[in-house]
Amino acid sequence: MRPKMLTLLLTGAVLWGCSPKAETPADTKTGDTGAKTTATTGAKVTIGLSQCNLGEPWRVQMNTDIEEAAKRHPEITLIERDAQNKSETQQSQVREFIQQKVDLIIISPKESRPLTRPVEEAMDAGIPVIVLDRKIEGDKYTCFIGGDNVKIGTEVGKYMVKLLGGKGDVVELKGLMTSTPGQDRHKGFLEGIKGSQIKVVFEADCKWLEPDAQREMKSALSTHPQIDAVYGHNDPSAHGAYKATEQEGKGREKLIKFIGIDSLPTEGVKYVKDGLLSATFQYPTGGGDAIENALKILKKEKVEKNITLGTRLFTKDNVDKGGDAL
Ligand code: FRU
Repeated sequence: MRPKMLTLLLTGAVLWGCSPKAETPADTKTGDTGAKTTATTGAKVTIGLSQCNLGEPWRVQMNTDIEEAAKRHPEITLIERDAQNKSETQQSQVREFIQQKVDLIIISPKESRPLTRPVEEAMDAGIPVIVLDRKIEGDKYTCFIGGDNVKIGTEVGKYMVKLLGGKGDVVELKGLMTSTPGQDRHKGFLEGIKGSQIKVVFEADCKWLEPDAQREMKSALSTHPQIDAVYGHNDPSAHGAYKATEQEGKGREKLIKFIGIDSLPTEGVKYVKDGLLSATFQYPTGGGDAIENALKILKKEKVEKNITLGTRLFTKDNVDKGGDAL
């Protein structure tokens, strides 16, 4: 059985490399941050990964990207945990990693506030932490890797202004607003539509979940006879909105423009190809970057504190050539 399948089936620990946690190498040093670091390439390292949930394809893809990058480095033992969308579970996972004395923690937090303290505790224990995709509060972490959600939101807004000729009534189906991508995608969008006659006539926190977006869109449709476009903070939300409109049975899905974010080949990009979405904006998982930077941190090499990943726009006109970088 492939390790990825194991991850999905067990939702518990998956040990990568199968070797027990290495003995402390002779040349392990304590650096000025207090971090235990392994100076020799090839020395065994244990990385704890806490993923906020594995119920969404984008997150499964992030774990796959991390696993594939880790496989290229046999010295890595990867311990994976799925917090099943519960901040309390994720707090315990980070604290367990601290007790286990892993060499480094990678966390993709569900929400910023509840995960801030556990990450600080890891740092206090001398364990470097890479925060992926959603931010925590403050700056007590080793490295943050993720897309620029304000920029993506702004690009969505500018695209919508063009698409609607500067005027229209819009529904915004937001991501979890206690997570930074939700806040930033909203803020950026308002910036992008500034000065136009685009009005947000209905908005709801759909927590990144397709069923929630479908339900909220149903109520938007029933209260708003005129809707020109839907901004889903992720592709599942945009897709849920499309489905709700189709189910309404009035053919409005042919008139309303749907826009999403993520651009997984099997989700957003496919929806654009199939004509369901007008556009999707790419949100890279950063999984591969996390492993590459983890190794640098463990070798005491310098890494940027904040690593910003780029985005691409996919529409029906450019989807076959792989979209355009923004
Ligand atoms: C998956 C997801 C993505 C979104 C990201 C934001 O959990 O909702 O769809 O882009 O998280 O953190």
